Order: sequence, then structure tokens, then C-alpha cells
Amino acid sequence: MDKEQLQTLYLQEDYYWGKDPNELAKKILKYVAPPKKVVDLGAGEGRDSVFLAQQGFDVLAMDIAPAGLDKVVRLAEEFDTQLHTLEANINDVSFSDSFDVVYSIGALQYIELQNRSRQFEHFKAITHPGGIHVLFAFMNHPEVDIAPDWGQNEYLYQPQELENHYAGWNILEQEQIIFDCNSSNIPHQHAADILIVQKLLKGN
Ligand SMILES: C[S@@+](CC[C@H](N)C(=O)[O-])C[C@H]1O[C@@H](n2cnc3c(N)ncnc32)[C@H](O)[C@@H]1O
Repeated sequence: MDKEQLQTLYLQEDYYWGKDPNELAKKILKYVAPPKKVVDLGAGEGRDSVFLAQQGFDVLAMDIAPAGLDKVVRLAEEFDTQLHTLEANINDVSFSDSFDVVYSIGALQYIELQNRSRQFEHFKAITHPGGIHVLFAFMNHPEVDIAPDWGQNEYLYQPQELENHYAGWNILEQEQIIFDCNSSNIPHQHAADILIVQKLLKGN
């Protein structure tokens, strides 16, 4: 979806992605204890950012859609917690801060191919030694068709593409999944690569 479509979606009262956190966000607690700094790239309406803030993490929720970020703030208020927000494009965002956790689910496909190496290098550089990246990327799979509501600004990852950005990091978990989806009320499937990696204490 492009920014205008997302804005329209997020201006509705309902939470399109729901208010319950993804299981992947909960996995962060297995590896990193609060209070540490988390950036959520493509935070949407904030279900995961707010959950992580509730756990005691210092969270920056970043998204391109300001109407989504308004809902992130409202959801944080509803759950009596606090976090920071940033309106930015994942294609060129540059953080001056560093983080213990870089988290992203469902937004990495918006990084255009020519920007990927640069942005992943940046996200790695702003990660503290011992910090982790917890990532979910939609990927190309021979048995899965392109989703009917897939946007022209979205680019699937190739097999191994995600892990290739993390040479020299510890792979903590990796899984490739195919799952059913009913977004836009059209039943379809997605393939995704889930990767949890840790920056070495010394080195890169
Ligand atoms: C599939 S939604 C996932 C939202 C959230 N991570 C969740 O799981 O609830 C993808 C998000 O990426 C955001 N997005 C799309 N293009 C973006 C871009 N170029 N830069 C930053 N965020 C973007 C959208 O606004 C949307 O909130």
C-alpha cells in the first residue's frame, strides 16, 4: 500500500492491525531485558511498540504514516505507557541515536532494492554491541503468488537475502513460513523469512 492508502486506513477509528502484539515482539524478551532501547521500523498503529513500552523498554515507533503514529500515541495512552514516535521513510531514515533492538515486522519490503545495503548497514551500525535485530520480511516463494493487494512500492526478499546482510552476526533464530492472510478481504497466502540476529560484542 502507498502512503495515501495507509493514511486513509489509519484515519479510521478501528485498529486495522489490531491491538494485540505479534508473537515476534514477545520473543524480544527472551534475549533482551528492559529497560533497553528499541526502534520499531514501520510500527503501524503501534501494537508491538506499545507492548514493548509496557514491558519497560524505551521505544521509538517509526512509520511513514502520521495517522498511524497518532494511533500509536493514543494506544500508548490507553495502556498507560509512554514511547517516542518518528515520522520517517525506511528508505532514507538515518538515526543519530543507537539502540539495543531493531525490530521490524511487515515493513522491510518497502526498502527499495537500491537502498537495501545502505539501510541495513546503517541499522547495524546504530546497534549496540550484543544488541539484536528481530525481523520479519515478506519473501519470494515458488508456491506463493503475489498477494492481490501487494503495492507497487513493495519488493519481496529473495531466499537468503535477509541473512546475507548479517555476515559476522550470530544467528539466534531463523524460520521461513507460509501463512494465510485475508487483508483487503481477499483470502491469499504470504511467504516470510523471520530472522533474529545478534551483533557480536567485538568487531562489526
Ligand atoms: C504491514 S504494516 C505493519 C505494521 C506493524 N509493524 C504491525 O505489525 O502492526 C506495514 C507498515 O509499514 C509502514 N510503511 C510503509 N512504507 C513505509 C516506508 N517507506 N517507511 C516507513 N514505514 C513504511 C506502513 O505505514 C505500515 O504501517
